[in-house]
Amino acid sequence: MAERTVRKRPHAKSKPQESKRAEAENSKSSRGPSAGVFLLLLTLAAGLCCYYFLFATPDTVFVRVSDHVQRAVYDVPCSKDYSQEEFPECKPKRCGRVVMDDLVRREDAEYLLRVAEKGFALAGSSGGASILDLHTGALSKDNAFIDIYRLLKAENIDLLTEKDFTIYKKVKDQIHGAIATEFGVSPGKLYLTKPTFFSRMNMTTPKTIHDEYWHAHVDKETYGSFHYTSLLYLANYKQDFDGGRFVFVDYDANRTVEPKLGRVSFFTSGSENVHFVERLKDGVRYAITVSFTCDPSKAISDPVSR
Ligand SMILES: *[C@@H]1O[C@H](CO)[C@@H](O)[C@H](O)[C@H]1NC(C)=O
Ligand SMILES: *[C@@H]1O[C@H](CO)[C@@H](O)[C@H](O)[C@H]1NC(C)=O
Repeated sequence: MAERTVRKRPHAKSKPQESKRAEAENSKSSRGPSAGVFLLLLTLAAGLCCYYFLFATPDTVFVRVSDHVQRAVYDVPCSKDYSQEEFPECKPKRCGRVVMDDLVRREDAEYLLRVAEKGFALAGSSGGASILDLHTGALSKDNAFIDIYRLLKAENIDLLTEKDFTIYKKVKDQIHGAIATEFGVSPGKLYLTKPTFFSRMNMTTPKTIHDEYWHAHVDKETYGSFHYTSLLYLANYKQDFDGGRFVFVDYDANRTVEPKLGRVSFFTSGSENVHFVERLKDGVRYAITVSFTCDPSKAISDPVSR
């Protein structure tokens, strides 16, 4: 089983190591067996540096679509965003990103994809990025939103079933539990918040700012109440769509998560996790964003059929 843990301290630059290496090289040359060895080492070191900056730096894939990870972890130091945190029992014990491919059952992800498809079939944004929020009923239509529950009632359409809500809640609970465990939070102090929604993206030209998902942002700033953000992907990168990878913007590199059906990716919502979604190049990309807060006054309850 693929289990992977990366613990990086991107803000603590590798100064100490560099000086250690310099010392080692100095002592070698002062012992003076051969200037050739020293030159060789220097060339190797320079070569490694060049390689690192040219090839390893700009775009690193954190988890590929072809990977199957039970649990892939990438730690980053928490930003200062949490220093004033009012909810100590919900504050992350550590910050970072986690990807899990076995948390949600494949058939549940497939089921939710069908819920998304039937919901979006009723409407959709004219600009390529549509959302369906089962909590509020908001469904993108052209340049605005309609209430899917009102529409279903008015047209007497029997679309969303009890089972749809049951599966949705089950999956939400699984993600909630995983976030609490990974970030050392008491589950009872971590609440679902809004917006929590299905999304569908295609490559149609954007019409409003809501369609422009590719700008780098911080969820805690964009949405205020967010402490932990999660995504359940309902489509496969390269198979169902192209572009549309999820990108964490770090100071030294962009680290991407390639979506695939059933993959859950979650992270602390502060400025340690600046991110964007690449512009779609082809196909249709479905996902669910599930957001959590520490603030009980921002909690929302599970959606119910009405
Ligand atoms: C990360 O991606 C953004 C947007 O494409 C780009 O502007 C930036 O240069 C990239 N950063 C690195 C280190 O490659
Ligand atoms: C993208 O989705 C919109 C609805 O959101 C639809 O009108 C449009 O035809 C779709 N475009 C493509 C290229 O699939």
